[in-house]
Formats: sequence, structure tokens, C-alpha cells
Amino acid sequence: MTKPFLSIENLTQTYPDGQGGTMTVFENATFGVEKGEFVCILGHSGCGKSTIMNILAGLAEPTSGVVVMDGREVSGPSLDRGVVFQNYSLLPWLSTLKNVSFGVAARHPEWSKAEVLEHSRKYLAMVGLEGDVIHRKPSQLSGGMRQRVSIARAFANHPKLLLLDEPFGALDALTRGTIQDELLKIWGDSGQTVFMITHDIDEAILLADRILLMTNGPFARVAESVEITIPRPRNRTAIVEHPNYYAIRNHLVQFLGKRSKELAGQASDGATQSPETVRIDLTDAADEPTPEPRLRAVNT
Ligand SMILES: Nc1ncnc2c1ncn2[C@@H]1O[C@H](COP(=O)(O)OP(=O)(O)O)[C@@H](O)[C@H]1O
Ligand SMILES: [Mg+2]
Repeated sequence: MTKPFLSIENLTQTYPDGQGGTMTVFENATFGVEKGEFVCILGHSGCGKSTIMNILAGLAEPTSGVVVMDGREVSGPSLDRGVVFQNYSLLPWLSTLKNVSFGVAARHPEWSKAEVLEHSRKYLAMVGLEGDVIHRKPSQLSGGMRQRVSIARAFANHPKLLLLDEPFGALDALTRGTIQDELLKIWGDSGQTVFMITHDIDEAILLADRILLMTNGPFARVAESVEITIPRPRNRTAIVEHPNYYAIRNHLVQFLGKRSKELAGQASDGATQSPETVRIDLTDAADEPTPEPRLRAVNT
């Protein structure tokens, strides 16, 4: 079998536990993401989501295991991977505009200064930042505004892989909706691959092709890969009417509320830990040509 675009292979992360021993965050985690896929990851705080993201970004080394993107092992950061962090991490000494334009200039050394600035302004406008505000330093912006700058910075670089760590958490509902729509548009137009951490179940259903579910740590596992069997384009008000919406939502709520705890805390004994594929489809089309149980869990 050929490798997926992004291949996470036997990833293990341990940290000192502060008492002379070690704490295993996750062990032998193995999963793939196809090119152009939009994958969300859901799991309780502390299970290791940001750790996985930092490893995918090339900003942290796992204790063992590898990440391969587009046939090449990830080691160190790259402009091919754009990251929006949970805590926005802008460069405090640069203006809002420069925080975006320095990456654009690095990505496109052949562009004139005017082209770089125009492109950067376009992406800042897309997240609602226009006018005088783009000349302010990050310290002069609100938390929500800073997060929007970091989103503009990542999107403006058109990375092959967008890594988003709870990117919309600090935004008000209206801005969040607008930026979710923009993200879907950019993703739809660009063929980019998106890997996004969120704690918002409804956001994950709206955006994702697939949702990875993590159990609680230590020894957290990516236990399930839930397919979002709701056709695109999706609209936040219309999807709740889809026959699969509540079935999928209930499955996710059930996992996070109950099974994430029940499945936690088991060492893998060296075995590769791959998620089980879960496909929930209650539509009439799913019954044809051969009727099958309405709720299906398929191992791959
Ligand atoms: N640098 C570190 N040193 C020690 N422990 C860490 C470090 N980074 C994260 N951890 C621990 O690893 C676990 C996973 O953290 P994290 O990946 O941030 O979780 P999440 O993003 O899912 O909330 C937590 O228990 C956290 O305390
Ligand atoms: Mg985190």
C-alpha cells in the first residue's frame, strides 16, 4: 500500500514525571492523513493533542517514531507547514502587517515589496483586520485580534499542510463563523491538507472529512477515526437537518463523555496503535444496494 500524504508512524512521547520516573503521553500512535483531507482531532485537555501538532510542525522531536510528509521525514520547521498555535505566538517587535508579510516575502522571494504587502493585506482583510490597526504591534491588539493575525499569517503562505491548534477558541461567535467559512473556502480552492485541533464538536462536524478521537492520557490513544458522512458544501444551519448529524454528534459526545476515560491508561506493549474507522450513515443511500446495519463500525 502507498503511504498517505501525511504518515504518523509509531509516535511515542514521554516526559519526566518530576519524581524521577517518566510519564507516557502517547505510545506508538499510528495514523495517516490523505492529501487534501480536512481532519480534526478531538480529545480532553492534556491528552497530547498539542504535542502531536508540535511534532507534525517539526518544532518538537518525539521520543520515538516518525512523521513522513509527501515522502519526506519531517525534521525541523518548514514553510510547507503552516501553524496556528493555541497561544498565537506573534513576533512582538513587528507590526501586524509585518508579522504576516515576513513569511510571504520568504515564501516568494521573486515578488516585489508592493506585491508582498498587497498579498499580506488581503489576508489580513479576510480576517477582518484593515486600516490603521495593521500597523499596530501585537501588544496593542486584543487576544481575538492577535489570533486573527496568526490565522492570516498561516493562510497567506499557502502551506501544503495547515496545522491549527484550537485556532478559533478566543474568537467571538460571529468572527469564528466568518473565519470558519473562509477556511473552508481556502481549503476548497487550494487542495491544502488541514489538520486541526478543536474542542468544539459542532465546529469539527462542520469542517472535517474525518474526526480523530483521542482517549485521555497518560497512554492516550487515537482510538477512532469517525467519517463525517454529510455532503459538502455544508452550511452551519442546514447540516443539523441532515439525518446523520445527530447520530454522529451523539457518537462524539458519548466518546468524550464516557469512553475516552474508560479506554485511558493502558500501555500498548509495543503494539502499533491505529484508530478504528467508524462510519455512521443513516441515509437511504447507505442502505443500497445491500441493506446493512444502520450503525456500522468498520475496521481497516
Ligand atoms: N515540555 C513538557 N514537559 C513535560 N510535560 C509536558 C510537556 N509538554 C506537555 N507535557 C504534558 O504532556 C501532556 C500533553 O500535553 P498537551 O500536548 O499540551 O495536551 P493537549 O494539547 O491535548 O491539552 C500533558 O500532561 C502535559 O502536562
Ligand atoms: Mg493543547
